[in-house]
Order: sequence, then C-alpha cells, then structure tokens
Amino acid sequence: MAVSTKPTVYVTRHLPDEAWKRLWEFCRPASWDFEYSPPSAVLRENVTDKAGLLCLLTDTIDAELMDSAPLLRVISQCAVGYDNIDVPAATLRGIRVGNTPGVLTETTADLAFCLLMAAARRVVEGAEYVKAGRWQTWGLTLLLGQDVHGATLGIVGMGRIGAAVARRAGGFGMRILYHDRVRKPALEVQVGATFVSLDRLLSEADYVTLHVDLSASTQGLIGEAELDLMKPTAILINTSRGPVVQTAALVTALKSGKIGAAALDVTDPEPLPGDHELLGLPNALVVPHIASASSATRLRMAMMAVENLEAGLAGRPLPYSVNAPD
Ligand code: GLV
Repeated sequence: MAVSTKPTVYVTRHLPDEAWKRLWEFCRPASWDFEYSPPSAVLRENVTDKAGLLCLLTDTIDAELMDSAPLLRVISQCAVGYDNIDVPAATLRGIRVGNTPGVLTETTADLAFCLLMAAARRVVEGAEYVKAGRWQTWGLTLLLGQDVHGATLGIVGMGRIGAAVARRAGGFGMRILYHDRVRKPALEVQVGATFVSLDRLLSEADYVTLHVDLSASTQGLIGEAELDLMKPTAILINTSRGPVVQTAALVTALKSGKIGAAALDVTDPEPLPGDHELLGLPNALVVPHIASASSATRLRMAMMAVENLEAGLAGRPLPYSVNAPD
C-alpha cells in the first residue's frame, strides 16, 4: 500500500464540506468534530505530529502548545481576530500565522447595526411580549424605544468593520463620531465621520459601538469611568471582544440606569453562563458571538483559512498573514 506523503494537519472544528474537500487535495486532515473546543490536552496530543493547525478563536494556542508540536509550520485561524494565539511565540519558532480578514467585514457590520436597531426599538422585548400572549391592543406608549435616524453614533475603532458600520449609519442620517489610535482623514470624508477624543465620543453619542482588536491597550477599555461619561439613554453595542468591556461595571451601569441598554455579541466571560446577572437585565440583549455567522461568510472564511494552510505547508508566505517569521 502506498504511503501518503501529504503533510498532516489538525482541524479543531467541523468545516463546511467544500472546505473539508479542498483540504484533502493537499494534506491529510484529522479533526475535532464537536461543537465546543477540544480540551487543551486533546489539542496538545493531536498536534504533536502535525505540520499544520487550523483553529478557531476559542482555541488557546500558546507557546506550550507550540512546543509540543515540533513539526508545526503553520497556524491558520478561521477568524479575523487572533488574540487567542501567541503570535510572537509562533514567530520565534518560525511558525507562520494567518487569519481571515476582509470577508467578514460587511456581515459583522450588519450584525452590529442589527443589534443597535434591535436594542433601540426593543425588538426582542416586543417579540417576547407577543409570544407571551400579552398583546391586547395598539398602545400609544407601548414598548417605546428611541430613534436611530438622526441620532449620534460613536464608533470606537475605525478599522474595516468600524467603517462598514459608518456607511450603514450614513444611510440612516446619523451624525458619526469616531475614535481610533490614528486619525483617518480620507475615511472621514468618505463616510462623513468626525474624529474626537474617546471621552467626547462617550459623552455625546446616543449609540456607542466597539470595533477594536483585543490587546493590552484595549482590555477593559470600557469600565466604570467610561460608562459614567455616557448618556443615561445611550446604548452600548459590542461586536469586538468581550474583555474590551468590564462586565461588572457594565452590569452596575445597566442596573442603575447610568446607561440605557447594551447589545452584546461578545461577552466576558464567553460563553456567558445561563444564570449570569447580565441575562436577567431587561436592558441587556446578548447573542452568542454570531457577528460573522452568515452561511456565505463562514464558507468564505473557511476557504481562506484552508488557503493559508496550503501556503504555509508549502513553505510559502500566507496570503492572509499576521506574522513574518522568515
Ligand atoms: C470573530 O469574532 C472573528 O474574529 O472572526
């Protein structure tokens, strides 16, 4: 029997069929097919003899794991964010790391805007009200929300996704403020946004939407002092990473009416336990990290991750790379 010379890879979750079929053309994949992440011991055991790893943002890929995989040449993350990977450790070990930027921008912006609108107009509460059989009549003051059109949107982090949210806001005639590490004059003109300090954004915005990467400088970015600056009617939307917001401070702000509401795709901790205090608050809307979850986008992300894996196994620079180990 002929022995395959194709490199071996480990895939930490079930991939769409098209991506899985493509993988078999250039490697021998083994996969973990459960809904949750492989436990760290399982992950470690499975990468020991692998040349490639295709992983998700819920897998912790640290130096210890890399040291248990002496043949590893490429780590391909099927997500745009990669704060779960110790990239400097990978670079030091000559391992290429890739992600899936760009393809999920519009889909993620769709969900950010959807959360904004749902919270503004109390869509989930309305649906629950009807389902509970409580709808008796048209009510002049029933489930009053707040307007989106003409309101002020504050975008924290004006990268690809922040800009895509700004374009949507333009269609609603919103006034757009943004804050970023760097000012983006061309984009300001394109989307009609004004650069302001974070404090000014927080104090003037009716809606604050977060689009920063998770890093040492953004961890806990929105805490008690920042929530204090926001309007009592303001709505906070987070589709970035949970730890950008200090959960305990957010719970206090929502309970005391310091801010109006929060609409979250990401939380800290994540997943949020079913009995978490946040879930008992009428002004918190939480969905399970689904911002990029359209069938088309998830397939594109998987195909990009496969493309990165193929390049890395062949010793080529990755088409969507986050480091340059050589
Ligand atoms: C999702 O959160 C991603 O980073 O792709």
